[in-house]
Amino acid sequence: KRVLSVASEAVPLVKTGGLADVVGALPAALAGQGWHTRLLVPGYPAVMTRIGRRDMVWAEEDFFGGLGEVYLGTVDGVEVMALDAPHLFDRAGGPYSDAHGDYWDNAERFAALGWAAAVIARDGVEGWKPEIVHAHDWQGALAPAYLRYWGVDVPSVLTIHNIAFQGRVSTAKMGALRLPHEWFHPDGYEFWGDISMLKAGMMAASAITTVSPRYAEELMRGEFGLGLDGVIQARATAMHGILNGIDQTVWDPATDPAVVPFSVPRLAAKGRNRAALLAEFGLDPDLPGPLAVLVSRLTPQKGIDLLPRVIDDFVRLGGGLCVLGSGDGWAEQEMRAIAERYPDRVGVRIGYDEVLSHRMFAGGDAVLVPSRFEPCGLTQLYGLRYGCVPVVSAVGGLFDTVIGATPATEAANAATGIVFHPVDALALQQALRKLVSLYQDSKGWNAMVRRAMKADWGWDRSAAAYAALFDSLVQPS
Ligand code: ADP
Ligand code: GLC
Repeated sequence: KRVLSVASEAVPLVKTGGLADVVGALPAALAGQGWHTRLLVPGYPAVMTRIGRRDMVWAEEDFFGGLGEVYLGTVDGVEVMALDAPHLFDRAGGPYSDAHGDYWDNAERFAALGWAAAVIARDGVEGWKPEIVHAHDWQGALAPAYLRYWGVDVPSVLTIHNIAFQGRVSTAKMGALRLPHEWFHPDGYEFWGDISMLKAGMMAASAITTVSPRYAEELMRGEFGLGLDGVIQARATAMHGILNGIDQTVWDPATDPAVVPFSVPRLAAKGRNRAALLAEFGLDPDLPGPLAVLVSRLTPQKGIDLLPRVIDDFVRLGGGLCVLGSGDGWAEQEMRAIAERYPDRVGVRIGYDEVLSHRMFAGGDAVLVPSRFEPCGLTQLYGLRYGCVPVVSAVGGLFDTVIGATPATEAANAATGIVFHPVDALALQQALRKLVSLYQDSKGWNAMVRRAMKADWGWDRSAAAYAALFDSLVQPS
């Protein structure tokens, strides 16, 4: 069985966040379930370098304002189709923006991506035709919409990784996005008088998934649904929450080349990673309390603004903190400021560094994820696997994957982390106090670390859930 997966980023080609990890990992996971994936991604410069221009499988001359071609290649065993349209994707900046901000034509760029996916699903390319289209986030969302508008009966699944990004633009772009006028209504792509590309996909897709069961429920409420809660409610019967997994071969502390290897039976070696991390960030080698790490995009979603308000208390109680992240200017500024305030206790690296992130989970005692909302979240899963106990807010996938320490879960020897609520500075401060006190009881602490490491967050369960959903759509009972 064949699935066409369409997304704006995928590991190892291009990554700005967890979306890329998930899109990149699903093909191998689904293969084990009898589903063969082809990925369609924009032909950014790095993608074209990797795929090359040898095997052209599709072309359209007047494609959203220039020539569009699709080239087929293989990357790490996965078949990738790159949409080569230099007028849209051959740019020096990132996938969505450059130093001047978001590209002015992002709606056109990703409408083009969805269009190519829909045409390939409708007509097939060189004998390959998918049974199902799997679109990711607003950038892929027009694929199910075009299929619906054309009356093509290839079923589609839209996965929402983050509803905060909706692809909302003015109706002046209707023609440029090739959207048929007759679908400009609340059951089509109309949203408060504008075009919403995400809504278009949500209304049109055969099924909608999001990346945790908890986020699926949260999305029905205004504070999380961000204007699309009504759409989610209307499509509740087509809605599924399927947790992300992690690649447990890449994220394995026993074989990770970036760290001093450790495992549940060889836990002592984790201490060497801790010492190395303290040294790398220039922190006090005799840190008395827990060493917390944060690996994150620095944006309001991630609750970064809470940290400066709790750091005094945490440092006073003996804690230390290493931060790796990049994002909004104000947040980078605030992180630098706390590092200057506590040079022996707080270290900050602004930037993106995959290998350093491995060393941080290996060396850290706890990973902080104080998100305001978190569709799934991956860093708490990496933390669990590396015995770096998650301290998380009770939202979305964080809620679904971490068992917070409470009298009941502690009595049952079940806790794998600390879960706090509501998402504010006071609750985070209390969570960090709890972290300090749990850390002081080294026997209980080591037991919790071992429990965290033993949890299985590989892809098998999730892939089976996606496959079951695909099967149900392809052969309706
Ligand atoms: P989101 O997709 O919302 O950013 P996730 O937790 O799902 O959140 O995924 C983030 C991914 O990006 C994880 O793989 C995380 O380790 C990685 N990451 C985020 N910031 C950095 C950074 N500065 N350096 C290295 N990896 C990072
Ligand atoms: C989004 C979400 C994150 C999720 C990721 C992959 O970026 O913010 O919570 O883990 O997508 O699904």
